[in-house]
Amino acid sequence: MKEPVSKNITWHHGKLTDEERVKCLNQKGAVVWFTGLSASGKSTVAREVEKALVENGFHAAVLDGDNIRHGLNRDLGFSPEHRVENIRRIGEVAKLMAAANVITLTAFISPYRADRDQARSLLPKGLFVEVFCRASIEACEKRDPKGLYKKARAGEIKEFTGISAPYEPPERPEIVLATDQESVEESARNVLSYLSGHGII
Ligand code: ADX
Repeated sequence: MKEPVSKNITWHHGKLTDEERVKCLNQKGAVVWFTGLSASGKSTVAREVEKALVENGFHAAVLDGDNIRHGLNRDLGFSPEHRVENIRRIGEVAKLMAAANVITLTAFISPYRADRDQARSLLPKGLFVEVFCRASIEACEKRDPKGLYKKARAGEIKEFTGISAPYEPPERPEIVLATDQESVEESARNVLSYLSGHGII
């Protein structure tokens, strides 16, 4: 990790331990990191999981690539450098949200393994759950809900993931969802049962 540019800065600690926060708020924070091609179902499944969690009284929230690029990351495009910075910022935001005991679901292509590993390194062991939305490029292209694959094939969008930019699939994700074969509900159930089986909920 790079050193901060600022000098003369001091880390301040809160008055509660992590254990005290969990006990008082009755909720553990965690990061559930969805990764996969565009149109592989990341946001759709994340929203389904979010709904189920919130309806059951958990604080959960989704950070979504398209949405975040309208605000926090509006200064970033899709060059390799900008994608790295996109994921670096989201890793940090997700860490802050998890530290505030929120179950944070992130839905970014996050194409580079090293960047996902960096995001993972910010969380205590067990509290970063990588979810690979494994849908073939053919299936994603067939869905093409935003017409982006079509534009990418026509050369109207450069550096499009899966067509003219790389995607590095996870090697050991906690969860693999066959999002081109199972329903959104099934995928969401898989994630929820992992979270309950591993003591996060
Ligand atoms: S990431 O690669 O930096 O993680 P992110 O998840 O934030 O990407 O944004 C991806 C979304 O931006 C896609 O779902 C798609 O809607 C849109 N998009 C626009 N241009 C591109 C591109 N060149 N490559 C991939 N996605 C793109």
